[in-house]
Amino acid sequence: MNEAILKTQELKKVYGGSVVTEALRGIDLEVMRGNFTCIVGPSGHGKSTLLHILGGLDRPTSGKVFLDGVDMTQLSDNELTEIRLRRTGFVFQFFNLVPNLTALENVELPLMFAGISANKQELKAKDLLDLLGLADKLNSKPNQLSGGQQQRVAIARALANEPDILLMDEPTGNLDSGSGAEVLDYVVRVNKEGKTIVLVTHHEGIAERAQQIVRVVDGIIQ
Ligand SMILES: Nc1ncnc2c1ncn2[C@@H]1O[C@H](COP(=O)(O)OP(=O)(O)OP(=O)(O)O)[C@@H](O)[C@H]1O
Ligand SMILES: [Mg+2]
Repeated sequence: MNEAILKTQELKKVYGGSVVTEALRGIDLEVMRGNFTCIVGPSGHGKSTLLHILGGLDRPTSGKVFLDGVDMTQLSDNELTEIRLRRTGFVFQFFNLVPNLTALENVELPLMFAGISANKQELKAKDLLDLLGLADKLNSKPNQLSGGQQQRVAIARALANEPDILLMDEPTGNLDSGSGAEVLDYVVRVNKEGKTIVLVTHHEGIAERAQQIVRVVDGIIQ
């Protein structure tokens, strides 16, 4: 258990354009397998930038990111796409569900892309929605679900391909405190099932539930 599933070395990100922004200025981070890590820090200080790079959604300007020992910065675009499909799961503040698909179909979607048979898609998706407390909402469309329920569908979808790590950017940022707390309870449950989780949040209350708190200020870890 005691090994880093994610590790960064001297990670830097500079955004170019008319204004040059040093969003990350040398991040050294370790996330242990099975841990629940929260990234906190002021707005605009590099949290999302860091999370996107950890998930293979973006590339750093310099430095290294090891996912299970493999340096993601050395991978081709195609290899990075594979990582995003199979190794990392992403949840965003806005749930990004497909509006005309049911909860079940939304969770089946990544399984379909991965070439899983229809039977297995359904079994897996039902299992996950059950884990997220949505066994009675399989056939509901997103607009028939509350914000918290939609976010739980998004979490189930992110878990569909059994990623090594679940990355979440302000997953409760768009929810009232009640549904936010409920979603957090499910996040903790998913972590207890063994999933490694990295979650970006503004809420200290959420960070308190994590095993590791990483404070990113001005692009570096404090
Ligand atoms: N695509 C981009 N192009 C240029 N600058 C960017 C881009 N994305 C982010 N930045 C800049 O990089 C810095 C860090 O942004 P980032 O989104 O990582 O902050 P954050 O900590 O997630 O903020 P918030 O809490 O408001 O979500 C900011 O100054 C931002 O303006
Ligand atoms: Mg952000």
